[in-house]
Amino acid sequence: MVKICCIGAGYVGGPTMAVIAAKCPDVEVVVVDISAPRIEGWNSERLPIYEPGLDDVVKQCRGRNLFFSTDVERHVADAGIVFVSVNTPTKTRGLGAGKAADLTYWESAARIIADVSRSDKIVVEKSTVPVKTAEAIEKILTHNSKGGIKYQILSNPEFLAEGTAIQDLFSPDRVLIGGRETPDGRAAVSALKSIYARWVPDDRIITTNLWSAELSKLAANAFLAQRISSVNAISALCEATGADVTEVANSIGKDSRIGPRFLSASVGFGGSCFQKDILNLVYICECYGLPEVANYWRQVIRINDYQKSRFVNRVVSSMFNTVAGKKVAVLGFAFKKDTGDTRETPAIDVCKGLVGDKAVVSIYDPQVTEEQVQRDLVMNKFDWDHPRHLQPMSPSAAKHVAVSWDAYEAARGAHAVCILTEWDEFRRLDYQRMYDAMHKPAFLFDGRNVVDPDKLRRIGFVVYSIGKPL
Ligand code: NAD
Ligand code: UGA
Repeated sequence: MVKICCIGAGYVGGPTMAVIAAKCPDVEVVVVDISAPRIEGWNSERLPIYEPGLDDVVKQCRGRNLFFSTDVERHVADAGIVFVSVNTPTKTRGLGAGKAADLTYWESAARIIADVSRSDKIVVEKSTVPVKTAEAIEKILTHNSKGGIKYQILSNPEFLAEGTAIQDLFSPDRVLIGGRETPDGRAAVSALKSIYARWVPDDRIITTNLWSAELSKLAANAFLAQRISSVNAISALCEATGADVTEVANSIGKDSRIGPRFLSASVGFGGSCFQKDILNLVYICECYGLPEVANYWRQVIRINDYQKSRFVNRVVSSMFNTVAGKKVAVLGFAFKKDTGDTRETPAIDVCKGLVGDKAVVSIYDPQVTEEQVQRDLVMNKFDWDHPRHLQPMSPSAAKHVAVSWDAYEAARGAHAVCILTEWDEFRRLDYQRMYDAMHKPAFLFDGRNVVDPDKLRRIGFVVYSIGKPL
């Protein structure tokens, strides 16, 4: 029986391994993590992450050929293929702080593999890493190799998006596997390919050299984020001219060379990866002496920051230049719908901006707890543009933020509603009921273009939608 071990039971490791276990009942898959609460969560009725369809897949395989454990050493030692899916956040200190990827967790995983291995292993980079990381990992493994143990490093980046992870894993646009162009390297690629080939058509499994695979992941995220910053930049021009960004996006998306997806203007992109991966790309370009290329990609993040502060400015300026003491309801705190993940969510910056102007903020999100919101607001945030920490919200300021159990409660007695996540339920709310319980004039700022502005204006709301005529 092939044995797979995955180091890192997070948003990628958990769902990815669950799907491999579901599709390969004859393969034993063990997901290990140093975090005991995470592993406990994976072994419980309430999984540590919310992802549509995930519960069913885990329940189908857990205890059969899918296991979650904190015994990292034992399961790494037993496995033939070791995936490494640990976090690779932006460095906050030292060389490259604010840009470079922090590979501390990756290096510690590699050292554990070297320490405990007693047989040859295929080590798979699942985490998103800087191009050339495989070379560094290879050095750690071979310099610490015991008794002639051989390692093959593969790059197999993950392209799933949160909220649609299970669907993305069941029918991926492509699976990418990069390996060494040697007989052993090719054998390792084909061993990993044979796992995916159980459910992914052959023409969707791409094999490349190691560096192309590593760079393709960073480039894919940079291209995706660039589309959002492009449409968001156009949204500002729409507001200035009377054009409608939805109509513009629809018109340009009909060009088959551009395509219709990923052109929704928003309050800004969030999530744990777009900003981190672009900063990583920027840093790599700078290290290779390519400042023009670095600056090109840096601009994608600048526009994203601009979009978030533009939104806050619009709220404050529309409400007679002051929100001091006014209740503002925030609908949605997760970085996108169908996830409880709040990493780098634009809602953090918007809430900080509003509280900075002395608003009283009341948040409703179907998947985010009060505890999580408070943690996010008081967390130290690194300013990528200038190497320093931004002031987190003080605990006393964070008291001006409360979490409500439903949207109507959040909006009761409020002067304004801000929609910051595109949850489907926000499209179906009874806005008349909400309006009736608000101060007048009642403002609605739609950061995701989920409501019909004309309909809401007929109710009496003063509506601002991203990139739409006022
Ligand atoms: P995560 O923070 O949710 O999970 C990482 C896990 O690794 C944590 O539970 C942590 O405790 C564990 N870990 C760290 N060091 C360890 C060690 N030495 N031994 C055992 N466990 C260890 O991160 P994530 O969102 O799953 O992302 C993982 C990687 O995948 C990142 O590089 C990310 O860029 C990439 N990625 C993420 C997504 C996504 O949607 N979140 C999608 C594609 C790629
Ligand atoms: C993204 C990529 O889509 C995945 O392919 C990739 O694997 C992943 O990053 C990663 O490397 O972590 P994810 O961040 O989970 O996935 O979610 P997306 O659907 O890409 O959304 C990212 C952000 O962009 C969200 O805040 C979303 O609301 C925003 N967005 C997305 C827009 O503002 N407009 C759009 O048209 C699309």
